[in-house]
Amino acid sequence: MDSFRVTGGCVLDGEVETSGAKNAVLPMMAATMLADGVSEITNAPHLKDMKTMSDLLRVIGCRISGSEHVLAIDTRGANHLEAPYELVKTMRASFYVLGPLVARFGRARVSLPGGCAWGPRPVDLHLKGLEALGATVTVTHGYVEAACTGRLKGGVFHFPISSVGATANVLMAATLAEGTSVLHNAAVEPEVDATVDYLLSMGADIQGRGTRTLTIRGKEKLMPGNGRTIADRIEAGTFLAGALMTRGRVKTTNMEPEHQGALLDVFRRMGADVQVGKDWVQVDARNRELKPVDIVTLPFPGFPTDMQAQLMAVLTTVPGISVVQDTIYTDRFMHVAELERLGADIRLRGDTATIHGGSKLSSAPVMASDLRASAAMVLAALVAEGVTDISRIYHLDRGYEDFESKLSNLGGKIERLHGQSA
Ligand code: UD1
Repeated sequence: MDSFRVTGGCVLDGEVETSGAKNAVLPMMAATMLADGVSEITNAPHLKDMKTMSDLLRVIGCRISGSEHVLAIDTRGANHLEAPYELVKTMRASFYVLGPLVARFGRARVSLPGGCAWGPRPVDLHLKGLEALGATVTVTHGYVEAACTGRLKGGVFHFPISSVGATANVLMAATLAEGTSVLHNAAVEPEVDATVDYLLSMGADIQGRGTRTLTIRGKEKLMPGNGRTIADRIEAGTFLAGALMTRGRVKTTNMEPEHQGALLDVFRRMGADVQVGKDWVQVDARNRELKPVDIVTLPFPGFPTDMQAQLMAVLTTVPGISVVQDTIYTDRFMHVAELERLGADIRLRGDTATIHGGSKLSSAPVMASDLRASAAMVLAALVAEGVTDISRIYHLDRGYEDFESKLSNLGGKIERLHGQSA
């Protein structure tokens, strides 16, 4: 198992290019299953999760090729309509193949993902949505089996809560259903829009992109897709948070600033200078007294739960009391105990953490507990006095491309120790 060794005391200053979004490319890859032929995806990031999705598509019978950041997925051999537990348990987004497979082939068998590091993560809405399109869904031996006779049937489904994954899954299925489907209270995250765009490139008929009501007129067939992955707003947000953490300056390029509204508002409220261009953002926290802040995570356009851990790391260094409430994943606080090992003072009660900021952080061996928590630990280690070893960084490798080289280019002192669990 690799680990990171981070030397504290740096100030990040520089420019970093944003990679393609993990959470957009994964549903796009699953969407290719809706057509027979070779689909293309550009600006695809190199990530462990992408490799897992590629492995899954290969198990199904697809051929995957491509060059640097371009993926070609040939679905002509797709015939094994099953997603095994071994893959789904390592990446929940594998569940995305359920909708496309049942829509195109009339049946699919996909392992239930089980819980994750921050508690239960149900998939009931994925299943109810598919049932609303006429699929018969059963769960046996840990596997979901979905089937329909002929094509799925257009239906109406109201998501009781906003779900990115369930929206994308049911949306993909609806594109091949017979008749019209209407999805109410659909998620409006940029990654859902990106999935819509990719489906449109395949010839799908979808109205209401970017709104909470999606109307899909099902087609008998879709053609192979061709589209570009949007920028990873969480990757960019993490580096921008690094500017606040180290009281430095970071510019993220090759990105969509309009996806960062809530995060940039928080950075401004904290007192950082935030500049926004057409495809870049610069956050400058040099020589600034940052202020504490209260945040609540919410569905887009609210503050993203995927930035909660990184912001909390920053807040541990800001004198005063900050409050962070996670309403999306109420147990997503594994990083709290690890930040405390570095000297942070955080009181956790239910879904709310109260951070008594301003304590001096000092190095200690810590553990990455999930993808974004890993990034939070690295941010904290950048300012902790001494050398911090962070183990279990395979979590981070799931979703950050070239993380340590990007961070080093900004001035971070980070080194990967191969095969060592520090
Ligand atoms: C996606 C992102 C993840 C992000 C999350 C919230 C991917 C691969 N992952 O996860 O990084 O943190 O959105 O922005 O894109 N829920 C149910 N039943 C369901 C589905 C969800 O109750 O069937 C609940 C969840 O427990 C959670 C809320 O809905 O409380 C939102 O989850 P959802 O948007 O579905 O998250 P994911 O798509 O799994």
